[in-house]
Amino acid sequence: MTAQTNRQFLLAKRPVGAATRETFSFQQVPVAEPGAGQIRVKNHYLSLDPAMRGWMNEGKSYIPPVGIGEVMRALGVGQVEASNHPGFAVGDYVNGALGVQDYFVGEPRGFYKVDPNLAPLPRYLSALGMTGMTAYFALLDVGAPKAGDTVVLSGAAGAVGSIAGQIAKIKGCRVIGIAGGQDKCKFLIEELGFDGAIDYKSEDVHAGLKRECPKGVDVYFDNVGGDILDAVLSRLNFKARVVICGAISQYNNKEAVKGPANYLSLLVNRARMEGFVVMDYAAQFAAAGQEMAGWIAQGKLKSKEDIVEGLETFPETLMKLFNGENFGKLVLKVD
Ligand SMILES: NC(=O)c1ccc[n+]([C@@H]2O[C@H](COP(=O)([O-])OP(=O)(O)OC[C@H]3O[C@@H](n4cnc5c(N)ncnc54)[C@H](OP(=O)(O)O)[C@@H]3O)[C@@H](O)[C@H]2O)c1
Repeated sequence: MTAQTNRQFLLAKRPVGAATRETFSFQQVPVAEPGAGQIRVKNHYLSLDPAMRGWMNEGKSYIPPVGIGEVMRALGVGQVEASNHPGFAVGDYVNGALGVQDYFVGEPRGFYKVDPNLAPLPRYLSALGMTGMTAYFALLDVGAPKAGDTVVLSGAAGAVGSIAGQIAKIKGCRVIGIAGGQDKCKFLIEELGFDGAIDYKSEDVHAGLKRECPKGVDVYFDNVGGDILDAVLSRLNFKARVVICGAISQYNNKEAVKGPANYLSLLVNRARMEGFVVMDYAAQFAAAGQEMAGWIAQGKLKSKEDIVEGLETFPETLMKLFNGENFGKLVLKVD
């Protein structure tokens, strides 16, 4: 690659089931000059998110789908190289929807500046980025945990789950994580201070919940949906809150999404289940980011990033999210 070449992954077709390398086309084009009101950013790190699979689907969602032939959408951090926009100067580091490419050229809609002297750049995609904001607002606003509550999280060793679980500990809750594999479960207890863990790949989740949550579940933070959601529904307490943050077990379904069979537990327990989209809280991100940075500085919150090198690995790296190969926030280092 020369400095003037932009490598790009475009959405070539809408996948049925899991995305593969064939879902995307790869091209190398000259780097464009920014027009009026535009900036050019050299992309350094891209955030790989389960939501990217949803953005490939046609149909109504909380955000329009990526069009066929468009650069695949991705959040990222990079440095401004050229600017025709009054809000951004050459040399600024920015966080925004940079796309799966070496350079972003366009209007910086929704972009904001980040300071590499305050935190390493990848952290602005994990605890101090959309991931951290998701954990913070989904847990605190929708889950509304009280000290002493039992909080259960699925996808607990992942980017959002690991942060949400630590925030629940900060708030004085008993925290139980559900994750795939002994290493991840050990990490939750020994490194993050969770009170217990359930390895859904090697044990029965119902039995694990009975062991770890003898007093039932007050808050369930769901990242995976499917059978695990059903299992936790069967253990809810009176007035429990179920946060529907994600349902990764369903994203690659070739048939209809499987809904919960045990939903009448909500009726019996006068409980509620509520969906969450992080963008609704954008106006409060700055204040939450400061609180999160404070917790990190005080050693109360650990942010784990799983950094994979090389833009060219994008399709295969993305798939790590769906087979549990990532350990922490999955970040693609562009070069
Ligand atoms: N609503 C919002 O605004 C919002 C914003 C950001 C993220 N999210 C959601 O939050 C969830 C977590 O995202 P993340 O970025 O933090 O990803 P992540 O948890 O770091 O990575 C995904 C993890 O999901 C687990 N997983 C994959 N397939 C599974 C299956 N079939 N059953 C059970 N677990 C499975 C794997 O962990 P194991 O090894 O433990 O299986 C994998 O490591 C996703 O559902 C995502 O869509 C929602």
